Amino acid sequence: MLREDLDRIDSVPMLPELVGKILTMIDDPNVSSHQLAAVVSKDLSLVASILRIINSAYYGFRWRIASVNQAVVLLGFRTIRNLVLAATVMNAYGGQSPSGAFDRTVHWRHSIACGAASSVLAKTWKVSQAEEAFLTGLIHDIGRVIMDQYFPAEFAEAVRMVNSEGMALTATEDRVFGLTHADIGRHVAQKWKFPGAIVSAIGDHHGPRPDTEWGELAALVHVADAMTRTVGLAVGDWEAAIDEGALAAVGHDAAEIEELQEAFLEEYKRSNIFEGLLT
Ligand SMILES: [Fe+2]
Ligand SMILES: [Fe+2]
Repeated sequence: MLREDLDRIDSVPMLPELVGKILTMIDDPNVSSHQLAAVVSKDLSLVASILRIINSAYYGFRWRIASVNQAVVLLGFRTIRNLVLAATVMNAYGGQSPSGAFDRTVHWRHSIACGAASSVLAKTWKVSQAEEAFLTGLIHDIGRVIMDQYFPAEFAEAVRMVNSEGMALTATEDRVFGLTHADIGRHVAQKWKFPGAIVSAIGDHHGPRPDTEWGELAALVHVADAMTRTVGLAVGDWEAAIDEGALAAVGHDAAEIEELQEAFLEEYKRSNIFEGLLT
């Protein structure tokens, strides 16, 4: 990859300043729910997005949540942070594809499906970062959107090579960019100061390393990504098949994944509300 290409990745805009502030507040034990709610409430469209999701069947509360403060008290800091990040990224990267080689609606549908599958796996496997599972699945392929947005000609070339040479997208990306969408996703998520577990899971979702610190979440998202293929929610043939070795290393097998199919589809239906966050 050329030096100026890396510079162009570094020129990917930061998420709104408010998001950085919210991320810092979440890590500060002295911050009260009231203070956090006050900061989130400064962005009215963010508030509307969050309340729409919280009041949907996704959470299934029997009564209406009317304020961010109530939401923070009920759902906790981490859940609110994850909702803020999901809403902000989808809002920023929901538009049209400049390369024309990439259908963002299909992309986000696949991403929501991967988030839903990640949630189901996280509950079943009882992983320690279960709360981050949906968000990680939702943004695991953000590197593709970044490539499409900031390097449209090169990305279109990588996609063209998939079709003409029958290679995997990660292989053609590597040939054109010297990096894959997983590498670029890791770079950007780090720049955006996303939690470490999410950064590594994005970077490793095509080659999970179960023995690393956040390896279980990466293995989980890798499996969730492959699960979307079985229900026709993958982007073409772009998602890899399950790495059985990685699955075995985290103590699971393919038969077990098969049994989760119904729960996954049910979760995907509930998660559809996230499509409403696209601009
Ligand atoms: Fe991917
Ligand atoms: Fe994917």
